[in-house]
Amino acid sequence: MAFNIHTSHRLLFLIPAVSYLVLVAVCAVIPAMLEQQREAEVEAPFEDALLERGRRLYRDFNCVACHTQQIRGDEALASVIEGERLIPVLKADARFGREVASRREEYAHQQPPFMGTQRTGPDLSSVGRRLPEAQWHYWHLYTPQSVSPDSLMPPHRFLFTTTQPSDDVAADYEKVLNIEGLGLPGKELWATPDARALVEYLLSLNREFIEAEGLSR
Ligand code: HEC
Repeated sequence: MAFNIHTSHRLLFLIPAVSYLVLVAVCAVIPAMLEQQREAEVEAPFEDALLERGRRLYRDFNCVACHTQQIRGDEALASVIEGERLIPVLKADARFGREVASRREEYAHQQPPFMGTQRTGPDLSSVGRRLPEAQWHYWHLYTPQSVSPDSLMPPHRFLFTTTQPSDDVAADYEKVLNIEGLGLPGKELWATPDARALVEYLLSLNREFIEAEGLSR
């Protein structure tokens, strides 16, 4: 009997092989495809290309490992004024410069949401208002200690390039003021398009932006 599983080598190989492929498709490939489709539906990219690039870099560099984007409210002090329930910002979070706690609508189009769970560094949900200068962020990303002496934040030097003053640089690089704390005497420092995009995204994080967008981010 050619097709007896006990004697046919072909069947003995084919049945486990096909079962394996079917299981891989059902348990891994199809769910992953469905998940990707769902992400694409939920995610609403920024229209501004530079801002969108910055948002993706923030996600890809996992800044969320050390920074939250969520301001907690103090439920115990909630009050109802003219029919609206107002929750003041938790005292520990007041230093981050927002007068209202984060609301779920702010995360509606974030995929994944950048809420974060741990604050090794400060909350960044309104960093664009607290620190509105791009140059500050360039210095900080290149050498965090140049502007924040005890900083534990890792430097992100790969987002920059240094040149001799006479060298040519591509037009989409932005010049960074070479302050002493960077330790680059006689050199020029340039922010690459990735650095520009990331900083553009950081500067966009502020209350006004959230309000203008109807709390959509
Ligand atoms: C290992 C933890 C860690 C990671 C990862 C990290 N940071 Fe930080 N960050 C910190 C710490 C600690 C501070 C506070 C000290 C300082 O200002 O440098 C900080 C401060 C900052 C500040 C200044 C905020 C303020 O209010 O003073 C910005 C902006 C910032 N980080 C952006 C980023 C971005 C963007 C990324 C991802 C590319 C990132 N951080 C990744 C730890 C981290």
